Amino acid sequence: MIAFDLTGKVAVVTGAGGGIGGDITKKLAEVGAAVAASDINKENVDQVVVEINKSGGKAKSYQLDISDEAAVYAHFDTVANDFGTIDILVAAAGVSGEGPNFYETPTEVARKIYDVNLFGTGFCIKAALKYMIPKKSGKIVTISSIAGRIGMPSVANYSISKAAIIAMTQSVARAHAKDNININAICPGYLYTPMWQKGVEKFSKILGKTPEETWKMLALDNIAMGRAQEVEDISYATLFLVSDFSKNITGQALNVCGGSRFN
Ligand SMILES: NC(=O)c1ccc[n+]([C@@H]2O[C@H](COP(=O)([O-])OP(=O)(O)OC[C@H]3O[C@@H](n4cnc5c(N)ncnc54)[C@H](O)[C@@H]3O)[C@@H](O)[C@H]2O)c1
Repeated sequence: MIAFDLTGKVAVVTGAGGGIGGDITKKLAEVGAAVAASDINKENVDQVVVEINKSGGKAKSYQLDISDEAAVYAHFDTVANDFGTIDILVAAAGVSGEGPNFYETPTEVARKIYDVNLFGTGFCIKAALKYMIPKKSGKIVTISSIAGRIGMPSVANYSISKAAIIAMTQSVARAHAKDNININAICPGYLYTPMWQKGVEKFSKILGKTPEETWKMLALDNIAMGRAQEVEDISYATLFLVSDFSKNITGQALNVCGGSRFN
C-alpha cells in the first residue's frame, strides 16, 4: 500500500494554534513526524499538542512571534537542540484583516501585515535553511493564498504579502535546488477558519448583510465546485509536498481552492 510515512522526520510548524496550521500539525504527527509546533498564541498551540501526545504522536509546543527575527533564529536553534535536527518547515502563521481598501489603509496596519506574512515567513525560511543546507536535504511549504494570485482590493496588503510569498518561494527554490531542498507554496482558497470568521463579521457590518449572506457572496459564489475548502484539504496537499512523492516538485504554487482560480 502506498502511504505517507514521515517516521524519523522533524517538522517545524508555525501558526500551529490556528485552523490550518493546527490541522497540518496533527496530520504530520499522525504520519510519524515529530512536530515542533509554535504560535504567537501559546494557549491554542498547547491544545493541539496535548491532543497529539494523548493519541500517541510526538509534538512539543512553543510560543513564537514570527515577526521577531532574533526570536525566530533562537527558536529554530532550540528546536534543533530539542529534536536533534530540522527536516521540514511548514510556515502557516499569517494575519489578514485590513480594509476598506489600499488607499485608506494606514501604513502601520499594512506594515504589520508585511512584518508577519512576508518578513516573518522569510525569517523562518532562513532559520530552517541553516539546518537544511549542510545536510543537503529539506522540505519547506509556505502558505500563500489565492489572494496572492490576483489583486484583492478589500485586503490589498494581505494580497500583496501573499503574492510576495510566491515570489519568495520561487527565489529560494531556484537558489537551493542544488542543496536538494524542495520549497513549494500552497494557495488555499476559502476556509471558514478563525481568520475568515473575523473577516465575515467585519464585512457583514460594512455590507449590511447577514454573516451567511456575506460568506456566500465573498467566498462560496467564487468557487467553481461550490463548496468551501476544509483544513484537511490543505493538510493533505502539505503531506504530499513534504514527502518524497514530490521529490521533483519545487518552486510551485499549488491552488487548493475548489477551482476558484485556475492559475
Ligand atoms: N482561512 C482561509 O480561507 C485562508 C485562505 C488562504 C490562505 N490562508 C492562510 O493560511 C494560513 C493560516 O490561516 P488560518 O485560516 O488557519 O487562520 P488562523 O487565524 O486560524 O491561523 C493563523 C495562526 O497564525 C498565528 N499567528 C498570527 N500572527 C502570528 C505571529 N506574528 N507569529 C506566530 N503566529 C502568528 C495566529 O495566532 C493563528 O493561530 C495564513 O497564512 C493565512 O493567510 C487562509
